[in-house]
Amino acid sequence: MSFRHVIALAALFGAGSLMAQEPAAPPVATAPAAAAAAAPLKPGDANSGQAKSATCGACHGIDGNPASSQYPKLAGQHENYIARQIELIKTNQRANPVMMGFIASMTPQDMHDVGAYFASKSSLPGVADAKLVAKGEALYRGGDKATNTPALREVRADGRVYHLRGTLATGWMPGGEAGVLVTAAFELVNPLTDLELRSRYGLSAREVEVARLVATGLSNQEVAEQLGVSYFTARNHVERVLSKLGVGNRSRVGAVLRNEAA
Ligand code: HEC
Repeated sequence: MSFRHVIALAALFGAGSLMAQEPAAPPVATAPAAAAAAAPLKPGDANSGQAKSATCGACHGIDGNPASSQYPKLAGQHENYIARQIELIKTNQRANPVMMGFIASMTPQDMHDVGAYFASKSSLPGVADAKLVAKGEALYRGGDKATNTPALREVRADGRVYHLRGTLATGWMPGGEAGVLVTAAFELVNPLTDLELRSRYGLSAREVEVARLVATGLSNQEVAEQLGVSYFTARNHVERVLSKLGVGNRSRVGAVLRNEAA
């Protein structure tokens, strides 16, 4: 079984250079702007925003500091950014099924009020996964040359698959600059079972056994002792296992068994 989590949203980057790097960014639709034009917006009112944000607290924390890193921190976030994201989610331009029911009836004014409320709160440290944010930024900046996709990457590490996605969005940064929203979602990956190892890599039952011993760090000699076979037999097994798993050296075997091989 695998679980899906959304863990961190982060990263505003300076706009100019990124605009140049990513001309093919998804266009930002203009329909909501038309709706907003109908009723002129007042600046968000934090007091009425507080009342309107009662349901948000369950996930994002009453003061916008969530208890779980699964939910993005809203405390200290910009009013315009919050309003804009709610609008994108409401109009399904940003996929977020879990929030839909809570924002369906929000007007643009509500979005700004709620934004003003969370903006007035202090952001407490400790929830965002700094390691992941740094990873997200590095991936965004480095891009993925192989697929020519600058803004989406999959990274496998520590028994997880991270999906990093960057979206260029205009109109919510101070000064109207474009900014990049990076979301990182992860799934836990389960280690491969014996059966999966056999069907996916064509290992024999014996080779599965050998692979698991190698993954614990045993040398060929130690594998031989464990299995009660000669050193040469063990070495042959190990070589076949490495070649079937498609890994150049034995230190990679553990990653394959943990299902972390890319
Ligand atoms: C059931 C849990 C849940 C509730 C309730 C909820 N949210 Fe969210 N919200 C999420 C999750 C999960 C995300 C991140 C989804 C993603 O990665 O796109 C999110 C994202 C957001 C974002 C984008 C944040 C960012 O950093 O980009 C905003 C803004 C937001 N929520 C506002 C609200 C407001 C306002 C309410 C109440 C009216 C609310 N949410 C209620 C789960 C919830």
